[in-house]
Amino acid sequence: MVVWLVLGKPSPASACPHNCVCYPTPMTVSCQAQNFTAVPVGVPYESQRVFLQNNRITELRVGSFGFGTQVLWLFSNNITWIEAGAFSELRDLEELDLGDNSNLHRLEGGAFRGLEKLQSLHMHRCRLTALPHDIFHKLYSLQFLYLQENNLHFLQDDIFSDLINLSQLFLHGNRIRTLSENVFRGLVNLDRLLLHDNRIRQVNRRAFRDLGRLTMLFLFNNSLAELPSQALRDTQGIEFLRLNANPWSCGCEARGLWEWFREARVSSSEVICASPAARRNQDLRFLREMDFAPCPLPDAGSIAGSTTTTFSTKTRWWFHKNKPQSSTKGVFEKASENVKAGLYGKGPSTTTSVVKYELGEEELALPKLDAEEYWANYGNEDSGVTLRCFELECPPDFDLPTSSSSPSSPSFLTLLALSVCSLCFNLHLLFG
Ligand SMILES: *[C@@H]1O[C@H](CO)[C@@H](O)[C@H](O)[C@H]1NC(C)=O
Ligand SMILES: *[C@@H]1O[C@H](CO)[C@@H](O)[C@H](O)[C@H]1NC(C)=O
Ligand SMILES: *[C@@H]1O[C@H](CO)[C@@H](O)[C@H](O)[C@H]1NC(C)=O
Ligand SMILES: *[C@@H]1O[C@H](CO)[C@@H](O)[C@H](O)[C@H]1NC(C)=O
Repeated sequence: MVVWLVLGKPSPASACPHNCVCYPTPMTVSCQAQNFTAVPVGVPYESQRVFLQNNRITELRVGSFGFGTQVLWLFSNNITWIEAGAFSELRDLEELDLGDNSNLHRLEGGAFRGLEKLQSLHMHRCRLTALPHDIFHKLYSLQFLYLQENNLHFLQDDIFSDLINLSQLFLHGNRIRTLSENVFRGLVNLDRLLLHDNRIRQVNRRAFRDLGRLTMLFLFNNSLAELPSQALRDTQGIEFLRLNANPWSCGCEARGLWEWFREARVSSSEVICASPAARRNQDLRFLREMDFAPCPLPDAGSIAGSTTTTFSTKTRWWFHKNKPQSSTKGVFEKASENVKAGLYGKGPSTTTSVVKYELGEEELALPKLDAEEYWANYGNEDSGVTLRCFELECPPDFDLPTSSSSPSSPSFLTLLALSVCSLCFNLHLLFG
């Protein structure tokens, strides 16, 4: 009996499920593209990454996952239902990718219950039409939330209010029409907010009240005619702003925004006026004081400090020719090695140099999605090595867009090879 207990105990290196490939360091179970219609049984409990993408899984229930893992990829399946509590056994889950499940449409309130270590949640292109008010409750560790290219037309007040660690929120390509006062409440660590390609016509003047750490705000291609200057004043750290492709009104109602631009140190897109007719095609930022002369005086609060700036606000940016260096420095190169080594294919990874388990954002991004969805392709703005210049201080080659993005480093070349169009997308974003 004792001998049986000692010798006969099953080894921890359990068998690999049928039609899957398993390899260690980190312990990975890859079952992609095998026509699975349910989560396979027999995934070793101690798995660290489980790849189930490109199957035909339709439902996720309590008990579907008899294993623990840190990374779970379920993108490109046919998931139509997620039972409340389906993931609650996955206590160590850090990354969950449910993207491209285009029949998902709806989520139940408790779908993500228990995921208190989740850092990254991907739900792009799931044709979601609405989100339950408690869907993100207690996801205190979440840093990246991908909700782009769904059919969301409404965001409820306080829906993100537990997400105190959220850094990046992707909401572009939905049908959102208004941003209410409390929609972003609680997002005190938000760094990037992407709201472009929606139908936003109205932004509450305090909608960004908690977003004091925001550095990047994209609102281009919406239906905005006005934007309360208080909303932007609340984003004290804003560095990158895109407001182009909106029907801006440049009458007296634009005065607050115009004054904000005079004070702000921000890299901004164009803000082209659509009305009144006399101002059409002018840039709101460069209207003159006299353009507002006939307007009633703004209240004292918004006029304070507005008349002393003498420099041109026509700021433009010069992009350093060095390779982008993100906060997850070095991961990009490691990731490309992994791709070459077949990490995302069926073969075992030969890159054993990855000692500590650590998936960088770029690594995760590489094989899965259109590169243009990821920050690498939002240009060097992401990198922290951009330099700002004002007209006279700009380097001589500043006006040549191509020089700003000349691929002079291997990692940029890799990026270019991955997606040639990322470059034109960059240029579109920067100058379009
Ligand atoms: C999955 O199903 C498709 C269509 O029925 C088939 O062509 C393909 O070979 C199957 N793949 C596997 C790995 O069995
Ligand atoms: C997805 O699942 C639904 C049932 O839930 C089924 O009717 C549909 O044919 C499936 N689609 C594909 C592409 O497998
Ligand atoms: C979340 O943020 C809080 C406060 O900023 C911090 O103390 C905590 O460690 C963070 N949690 C995680 C998992 O990052
Ligand atoms: C603007 O956004 C809409 C979705 O609201 C999208 O269909 C359209 O392609 C976008 N336009 C451009 C020029 O990207």
